[in-house]
Amino acid sequence: MTTNSSNIVWHKASVNRESIEQRRNHKSAILWFTGLSGSGKSTLANAVNVALFNKGLSTYVLDGDNIRHGLCKDLGFSDSDREENIRRIGEVSKLFLDAGIIVLTAFVSPFRSDRDKARHLVKENDFVEIYCAANLEVCEERDTKGLYAKARAGQIKDFTGISSPYEEPQEPELKIDTGLKGLDESVDDVISKLIKLNIFQ
Ligand code: ADX
Repeated sequence: MTTNSSNIVWHKASVNRESIEQRRNHKSAILWFTGLSGSGKSTLANAVNVALFNKGLSTYVLDGDNIRHGLCKDLGFSDSDREENIRRIGEVSKLFLDAGIIVLTAFVSPFRSDRDKARHLVKENDFVEIYCAANLEVCEERDTKGLYAKARAGQIKDFTGISSPYEEPQEPELKIDTGLKGLDESVDDVISKLIKLNIFQ
């Protein structure tokens, strides 16, 4: 990708992240949910979002299926399209971080290098990787969107877990077995982690 930013000067905002965080009384963060299709990323991210909203925190969910209808509708599922998808989400998430918001992203994001690039766009404490670790058998059994059946039948190519790899996070901030654990308990795990990380009290 070429950059045309050589004659563009970064404009520093006068209302900055710190002042927003102070006013809202919580830190911003990127909660990066990753896992196979059907592992419960979106369900968990949305349930955590409700819990945070009910605590009065400023949040926003970026969800793979929705973003691919707009910002990333020009992208498919080749390795390079996924890389670009995650690059854009990383950059958008960074903007939300700057706006003092807790942003929850729910993308398969199967490649470790792409997730790590998103992680390294921001400071260490700003990025919380949450691995939704339901295994393939569970996700395929659920097959909520009927996509695994299509992938097995060869009707969808490059399908994560079937014909395209998923690289498990090696050191996620949190790993939740969303195949076994109930939703409420999983939400509690995320909330406890955020309190431990001092994102809010
Ligand atoms: S990512 O790999 O680039 O992070 P993303 O999270 O945006 O993927 O989109 C994944 C969603 O698109 C899945 O939940 C599934 O519903 C749908 N999908 C359609 N085709 C594929 C495919 N080949 N691989 C994975 N998911 C797919």
